[in-house]
Amino acid sequence: MKKTVLTGIRPTGNLHIGHYFGASKRWVMYQDEYNCYFEIADVQALTDNFDNPEKVRKNVYELAIDLLSIGIDPKKSTIFLQSAIPEIAELTVYYSNLVTMARLYRNPTVKTEIAQKKALFGNEGESVTYGFVGYPVSQAADITAFMGEAVPVGEDQLPLVEQCREIVRKFNSIYGKTLIEPEAVLGKNPRIKGLDGNEKMGKSLGNAIYLNDSPSVIHDKVMGAITDPKKIRKDDPADPNKCMVYYYHKLFSGDEVETVCKECKNGERGCVFCKKQLIENICKYLEPIREKREYYLQHMDEVQKILEEGSKKAREKASITLKNVKKAMKINYFDE
Ligand code: TRP
Repeated sequence: MKKTVLTGIRPTGNLHIGHYFGASKRWVMYQDEYNCYFEIADVQALTDNFDNPEKVRKNVYELAIDLLSIGIDPKKSTIFLQSAIPEIAELTVYYSNLVTMARLYRNPTVKTEIAQKKALFGNEGESVTYGFVGYPVSQAADITAFMGEAVPVGEDQLPLVEQCREIVRKFNSIYGKTLIEPEAVLGKNPRIKGLDGNEKMGKSLGNAIYLNDSPSVIHDKVMGAITDPKKIRKDDPADPNKCMVYYYHKLFSGDEVETVCKECKNGERGCVFCKKQLIENICKYLEPIREKREYYLQHMDEVQKILEEGSKKAREKASITLKNVKKAMKINYFDE
């Protein structure tokens, strides 16, 4: 039996190369080895954007197209919408008794996000909803509904997987062994820096290269990337490790990297030349992804069908878990 892998992403915008190298490139490879479920976590996105449903809806389709374009294959894996699986919402209600408010507030990811909200909106009490504080419970439902064994995530998600494990242990100890305790799987490359050298690449930081950026946008972004500030003239030697252009060459430029490094250190390459070479390599790398994106944009009916069929398949699996959960909790009144 193949192991079950489940992961989710919030539809909050297009995928950038930080997501790609940090996470989703791995998912594409997992498809051949594991039984994979990829959840578009639109209900979770609504915890932050309940007042902007148009935005969430638009991002659901953008994300679906991004996932298909990088090679998530509906013939191999299940791509589905969280909101299309009512079983997840029902499990969330049952699990919510197994988690204290204190424990939710102590969850490091939730804590950081509440601090960010506080900085943005001031009064915490006014901006933090019940749904938001409880999203780790609903994420535990996401994972367990599909009997997820391995959860490939970024480091920031570890506390959420840990919280899920606690819920599973508590459920199993009270109601009898029903659920599987998942493992988080971290990638080797968990975080990609931004164009400005920031440790994190992010939409809100304005330092990201998106998978759907056009060549001219990529050109402008790379031209503005941070290089070694000590290098002023074209033939000054520089330290490639202080340069974001070199950093991205390592991701996109294959065998050319060694030459880039050597020439930079020896003062044998100008930054403009170096950036142009990187732009070309990034564009070449992203071209097949962009082509697939174009195809799906022209065939939105296909995207719609993939999501619908994936959600139907996902629901079948989740309903088995829900049945087991209700039986364990002795609320299976009408099952034979
Ligand atoms: N919380 C995750 C994020 O913000 C998204 C997510 C939702 C998820 N459900 C999940 C991740 C289940 C792993 C497993 O990116």
